[in-house]
Amino acid sequence: MHANHRFTAAMDGADRSSMVVCVTGAGGFIGSSLVKELLQRGYAVRGTARNPEDRKNAHLHSLDGAKERLSLHRADVLDYKSLCAAFSLCSGVFHVASPVSDNDPELMAVAIEGTKNVINAAADKGVQRVVFTSSYGAVHMNPNRSPDQVLDESCWSDLEFCLKTKNLYCYAKTVAERTAMEEASKRGIQLVVVVPSLTLGEMLQPTLNLGIQLLIVSYMKGAKKTYANTVSGYVDVQDVARAHVLVYETPTARGRYLCIGDVMHRSEFIRMMRELFPQYPITTKCKDGNAARVKPYKFSTQRLQALGMKFTPLKETLHRTVLCLQAQGHIPVLSHKSAL
Ligand SMILES: NC(=O)c1ccc[n+]([C@@H]2O[C@H](COP(=O)([O-])OP(=O)(O)OC[C@H]3O[C@@H](n4cnc5c(N)ncnc54)[C@H](OP(=O)(O)O)[C@@H]3O)[C@@H](O)[C@H]2O)c1
Repeated sequence: MHANHRFTAAMDGADRSSMVVCVTGAGGFIGSSLVKELLQRGYAVRGTARNPEDRKNAHLHSLDGAKERLSLHRADVLDYKSLCAAFSLCSGVFHVASPVSDNDPELMAVAIEGTKNVINAAADKGVQRVVFTSSYGAVHMNPNRSPDQVLDESCWSDLEFCLKTKNLYCYAKTVAERTAMEEASKRGIQLVVVVPSLTLGEMLQPTLNLGIQLLIVSYMKGAKKTYANTVSGYVDVQDVARAHVLVYETPTARGRYLCIGDVMHRSEFIRMMRELFPQYPITTKCKDGNAARVKPYKFSTQRLQALGMKFTPLKETLHRTVLCLQAQGHIPVLSHKSAL
């Protein structure tokens, strides 16, 4: 039996309640799904939030197993001591926290200095393994790659290009990921990086995260009058959470793992949304009018698939996301039978 499978098999029979892991940014979109997945798998979970008492984090307490095995800790990634307190006695840390925005004035510091702090606090507290949540924005922003190239874990975004195109989020995530690698290597931490694309799916948190606001709500409310001439990767939040746990539980897993389900032009994404929910005023107009469509490109997710990862079809994810938005009152419920 392969070492990975032996370890996973051993983990399957293991009492994970004695294994304490910490998730930074536990109350966010991806953080909440990850906490849920870890609790389901039996771990004792510590979640960090800058204000654990804030109502926006209350949903975490009603997750299955939370009463017995979840504690929330006040920590800011820019406050080293608060991280050390949260990581004490943990065997693993999942570093998810980071602002998802191009205009948060703290973006750079939180992403880069915050990551440096997390890796060093983890090392100081004897944590063996850190899983870092990067973004495919740290992979594909490179004007010099050939349109036919299949993008994989060896590809990195071009920092100058990120700055030139005012894509500070991609810049920050690229530098943060490189920082995580450098610091982990200096401190002897086992680092695994999950690299998700645009993430959709069920929101456990009550507040609307920016990604879903921009990619779904603004179209469904008819607020966006045109769609961008762009190609994007999409992935389900539950798949992202599962990927984090999968790489954590695979002892030989190291380095980057692209976590991307479907890649398509925005026009196809819009078409899918309109087919599923034709009753919503979703635009049919491309921002670039009749200009040539940006050519689709491909990502390889073989590394993650080799660990057993299977991706949810985007149509299912999209359907689930919209039902969740309706249930939470973020979009009105317009009656029409969906196509799924
Ligand atoms: N959503 C996507 O499409 C997507 C795709 C690829 C990668 N990612 C990555 O996934 C991670 C989570 O994204 P998300 O979509 O779940 O975002 P989100 O819902 O906006 O959550 C962001 C989290 O970051 C925390 N945070 C922000 N500043 C902090 C600070 N100074 N100290 C501690 N925590 C801080 C927030 O915690 P507070 O409660 O303390 O505010 C919040 O929990 C990020 O690293 C992002 O780059 C997201």
